[in-house]
Amino acid sequence: MANNRQRHDAITTGNICLVGLMGSGKSTVGPLLAEKLDFTSVDLDANISSSLKRSIREIFEEQGEERFRAEESRQLRLACANGKRVIACGGGVVLSPENRGFLRRQTTVYLKVSPEVLAQRVGAAKDRPLLAGAASPVQRLATLLKEREPLYLDCARITVLAEGKGPHVIVDDLLTRLPAHESPETP
Ligand code: S3P
Repeated sequence: MANNRQRHDAITTGNICLVGLMGSGKSTVGPLLAEKLDFTSVDLDANISSSLKRSIREIFEEQGEERFRAEESRQLRLACANGKRVIACGGGVVLSPENRGFLRRQTTVYLKVSPEVLAQRVGAAKDRPLLAGAASPVQRLATLLKEREPLYLDCARITVLAEGKGPHVIVDDLLTRLPAHESPETP
């Protein structure tokens, strides 16, 4: 049986995009998975923030969601340009049909978590504009999930039930499920 290193070498040389609602673990799983695959880890929100020189909350407040979404789409394309990246996407990346088309051409992974657990993880989430002012974060997350889950499923080649599992377990699970393509170095 191929050892892990060989198996990782044979895994797609394209990009892996992690999607799912806020609190689903994309930003934790992303760097761990990238390390195992020897890929570069990219956090889309961090890139948006650094490009617009503001926190995500400030972008929403000062420039509006439309500006944020435009930069999100631009950063997604930039991040995917080179391959061999694990890209943790913001939860709303799938709202744009163009982004969905783009995600379908990558290896996209949906991290599925229930609204109850998401709410526990994100807490009051003052830095998360879409939860700001929500009387019930669970209700708000349930509504978002209802709207977005069909979009996540539309883009994702792999769905991981990411609840009740630590990030290392999720990464190990993913490593066995990522599509392995023939790579030039693989005999
Ligand atoms: C958003 C999720 C956030 C961030 C922004 C919008 C969303 O990212 O992109 O606040 O629309 O769900 P995370 O999913 O990483 O929290």
